[in-house]
Amino acid sequence: MENSEEISIPRQKQVAEVCEGDAYDLLGKLPPESVDLIITSPPYWGLRTYGLSHNEEILNEWLAEGGSKEQVPPYDWYRMHGGCLGMEPLPEWYVANLAEFFQRGAAALKPGGSVWVNIGDTYFARWSSIRLDGRQGLGDNPRMRRKTPMGGFRQEKQLLLIPARFAIAMQENRWILRNDVIWEKRNVPPRPEKDRLRLAHEHFFHFVKRPKEGRAKYYYDMTAVEDGARDVVTVNAAPGSDGHSATFPTKLIEPRILSSCPPNGLVLDPFCGTGRALSVAVKNGRRALGFEITPHFSKSARKNIAGKVSAHEEEQEETGEVFERRDALF
Ligand SMILES: C[S@@+](CC[C@H](N)C(=O)[O-])C[C@H]1O[C@@H](n2cnc3c(N)ncnc32)[C@H](O)[C@@H]1O
Repeated sequence: MENSEEISIPRQKQVAEVCEGDAYDLLGKLPPESVDLIITSPPYWGLRTYGLSHNEEILNEWLAEGGSKEQVPPYDWYRMHGGCLGMEPLPEWYVANLAEFFQRGAAALKPGGSVWVNIGDTYFARWSSIRLDGRQGLGDNPRMRRKTPMGGFRQEKQLLLIPARFAIAMQENRWILRNDVIWEKRNVPPRPEKDRLRLAHEHFFHFVKRPKEGRAKYYYDMTAVEDGARDVVTVNAAPGSDGHSATFPTKLIEPRILSSCPPNGLVLDPFCGTGRALSVAVKNGRRALGFEITPHFSKSARKNIAGKVSAHEEEQEETGEVFERRDALF
């Protein structure tokens, strides 16, 4: 990567910036060892498009070009053929793509830095229902049906264990997994299924870099974590901000930012949505940088980091009202 292409990172105290574009490209343009903490929630597999267009014929095109179902195309091939992250025809493609994104960011992370990734699971269905944008709302959200190839572990009603598959892919890429924090959501709405429990948790993985020699050493402030320092945290899912369905609850990310990024350090959210991680970082005396592919959400993120996050949104997080942050289907 040419230095001239490097992204300029916020250098002043409590400054946040948002770059619009594909995080895959932007991660590759960061100055080496410039980031203290990557904290993010990528699009989950097979749930929504965030308004991006996706080529539903992509698997056929891969096979026509000589690929097989056992092989996974690189992300660059995938997006060149109209694929968007989270809409991969097979969960294996999604896991490989996501792991590739974090490899792109590895050089930008300081040796003592951390990566926190929030990710939820999906039930497999041959015919699944995809929300077309990131807007919250149970009734008025446009949806489409799509057919996903069955085979192997991809069977009707199967909980796919996508977070675990992703964590293993990261371990295979030399990351050290330090915690699998369970985010318990007390306010998930009832589901119509009569033969399983409601999905009421998501994962928040903490990865650090594996040094060439010895044991991993990284910044960590134990005094900033939740009382009891347990790996299960209970935080209500928050209503989306600015039409986004998946806004981070402040209470979930604040302890992560405070404990895994030193004061005035740089926090990066490569899938920043409406920028909640950035505003929480700045509020706590860190610098922040966000990447976001959709113009609508990058505009919201810019507005929010300019200090316009309404107190109302933070209040709603406290109320415990029933709210569906993610909808895992079937
Ligand atoms: C789960 S949401 C993140 C929400 C965020 N944590 C918040 O608090 O608002 C994932 C975001 O990633 C964005 N996104 C999807 N593909 C992307 C890509 N290739 N590069 C950058 N952003 C992407 C989506 O538009 C969406 O806003």
